[in-house]
Amino acid sequence: MTIKSNTHIPVLINDIMSFIDTGKQNTIFDGTFGGGGYTNIFLNHGHEVYACDLDQTTIDFFQDNNPSNTKLHLENDNFSSYISNFEDGFFDIITLDLGYSSNQLEYSNRGFSYQNVDEALDLRYDISTGVPVYQKIRKLSSADELGKILFRYSGESFSHRIAINLYAAIKATDKEFFVCDAIRVVENSIPKKFLHKINSILSRVWQALRVWVNDEFVHLELFLTTSISKLKQNGVLMIVSFNSLEDKMVTKYMRQMSQKKIIDDFGNTQQDYILITKKAVLPSNDEIDTNRRSRSAMLRVLKKL
Ligand SMILES: C[S@@+](CC[C@H](N)C(=O)[O-])C[C@H]1O[C@@H](n2cnc3c(N)ncnc32)[C@H](O)[C@@H]1O
Repeated sequence: MTIKSNTHIPVLINDIMSFIDTGKQNTIFDGTFGGGGYTNIFLNHGHEVYACDLDQTTIDFFQDNNPSNTKLHLENDNFSSYISNFEDGFFDIITLDLGYSSNQLEYSNRGFSYQNVDEALDLRYDISTGVPVYQKIRKLSSADELGKILFRYSGESFSHRIAINLYAAIKATDKEFFVCDAIRVVENSIPKKFLHKINSILSRVWQALRVWVNDEFVHLELFLTTSISKLKQNGVLMIVSFNSLEDKMVTKYMRQMSQKKIIDDFGNTQQDYILITKKAVLPSNDEIDTNRRSRSAMLRVLKKL
C-alpha cells in the first residue's frame, strides 16, 4: 500500500480524552495505531504511548512523515500479543479503535471497500502472513462452511445463498478474485426485490469476510482477557467498536468484570472494576456530519478501582 496522505479522522477522540486525567503524564497503550490519530493527540498532551498495528505500511507512513518522539514506542504487532509484553499494572490507559482506517480503505489495494472494484479481494491487515480471503475461501471444503462463516460474522440472512455462488465462483478459477467479481456474485444471489438493500448486504458480507480472514474476534477475546491485568489502579480500558457483534463481546466482558464481587477478610463486599459507560458513548450529529465513518462507532469504558 502507498498511503498518499493521512485521510483518517480519529473517531470519538474528545470522548476518549474526557476519560483521561490530563493533569499528569499517563502511560498509554494504543493497540490500533492506524493513522496515529489517537497516539498523536496523546503525545501532544505529554503522555507516553506504547502503540502497535498489524499493518506495517501504516507504521512506515507515520514514521516517514513525523519526527521521532522518545515518548512513542511503536511496533508492528497484534494487540493481542503486544499487550502481553508488559507487566501487570503498567498502563493508566488502554485503548482499541477496532477495524480499518480510512487510509486502508483508500490506499491499501486490498479490497477493504466494495467501491474499489478493481482491487483483489484480500482484506488482510497484515499481508505478511496468511492468504487473501478469496484463497482462504478456495481452501474450504464446502459452500456450507462458507455460509456458516458469513452468517456467524455478520448475521446476513442471505448468507447461505451468497455462499453457494461465491464458493462456486472462486473454486471455478485458480486466478485472482476481484471485488467486482464478488459484487456480481452477491447481486446475483439475492432476490431482485431486495436489490435496493444491496449496499447493506455488501457491507455485511465484507464485514464477515474481514473478521474471518483476520481472526478479529479471536484476537479481541484474547485481548479482553489479558489487558485488564495490565491496568494500574484507577486505570481505564476504552474500546471503540463499529459493529454490534464486536460491541456485544466488549459489553459482555466489561459487565462480567464489573459485576464480580469479592468478599474481603472483614466480610465487606468489594468490586474491582466499574463499568463507566452504562450505555455506549455515540458520536454527536456534528461529528457524524464531519466524519461519516464515525456514524457506527460505539465507545465502552471500564475502570479499575
Ligand atoms: C480504526 S483504525 C485506528 C485508527 C486510529 N485510532 C487513528 O485515530 O488513527 C484500526 C487499525 O487497527 C489495526 N488493527 C486491526 N486489528 C488489529 C490487531 N488485532 N492488532 C493490531 N492492529 C490491528 C488496523 O490495521 C488499523 O490500522
